[in-house]
Amino acid sequence: MAEELSGRVAVVTGGAAGLGRATVERLLEDGARVVVADLDRDAGEALVDELGADVRFRHTDVANAEQVRDLIGFAVKKFGGLHLMVNNAGISGAMHTSFLDEDFADFERVLSVNLLGVMTGTREAARQMTAGGGSIVNISSIGGVQAGPGVLAYRASKAAVLHFTKCVAMDLAEYGIRVNCIAPGGIPTRLLTSATGTVEGADGDMMAERIRAHIAATQPLKRLGTPQDVAEAVVYLGGDRSLHITGTVLTIDGGTTAGVKPMRPEQATAPAS
Ligand SMILES: NC(=O)c1ccc[n+]([C@@H]2O[C@H](COP(=O)([O-])OP(=O)(O)OC[C@H]3O[C@@H](n4cnc5c(N)ncnc54)[C@H](O)[C@@H]3O)[C@@H](O)[C@H]2O)c1
Repeated sequence: MAEELSGRVAVVTGGAAGLGRATVERLLEDGARVVVADLDRDAGEALVDELGADVRFRHTDVANAEQVRDLIGFAVKKFGGLHLMVNNAGISGAMHTSFLDEDFADFERVLSVNLLGVMTGTREAARQMTAGGGSIVNISSIGGVQAGPGVLAYRASKAAVLHFTKCVAMDLAEYGIRVNCIAPGGIPTRLLTSATGTVEGADGDMMAERIRAHIAATQPLKRLGTPQDVAEAVVYLGGDRSLHITGTVLTIDGGTTAGVKPMRPEQATAPAS
């Protein structure tokens, strides 16, 4: 395969694990040099040891605007520019089985990481890209597209990321900066268990298993989504095959948000009389 991103420089926040890590590996395969920004220093440094000199790690909390500004400066200093910014870092926050139990204890943290982190990441990257253009990819979630229970601060933050992406895409188009959004769903990573593990009195693993079973039952495509599915889309949105695409949302969810498939008659159970 030709190296689509040869000579390009990318930053991936939350790049030390899950979807971010798969994206880093895929960008490297495509010839990019990549700065991984993450809170997890051990995993970030281990990744650099594993993947070599075209990857650098910068310890960053995306909720801290100053650290995000330093991150972009670091990427430019190390690799000479910035062409692709992937605002991927995200946290689920605590899960509540009823909204009546919501105490908003982690509301500010969830919004600071998932929304403000994306907004400052976009701003700092765009400030660097005004001269030559570039691509910014924000990772939202199908939780921001489709209504559902449990992690409402997370869902609200991800819906806001979608809307922000469309608005800022209009603003930055005059500089040749494209801003797009990916909304993944149901891809096994640590994120799900980090949410279910917070439910008081419940067995987090059992809840995670139930959610996985629900996803499997409602997802039209019967294959399991992988971090690599998201990484492929980032390469597409980050490279020159998508030059006419900005302000869009690409769902990567096996068809889950496409609609509800009616049950076949033999699957329906009669209502209790
Ligand atoms: N896995 C899914 O099915 C799924 C679905 C929808 C959306 N997403 C989104 O994809 C993104 C990646 O999620 P994942 O599933 O790979 O999760 P993950 O928990 O496996 O990885 C997240 C990474 O982000 C890092 N991180 C967390 N907070 C950070 C911060 N403040 N600053 C810098 N780094 C931070 C973590 O250390 C970790 O390395 C998130 O934004 C998530 O909301 C994932």
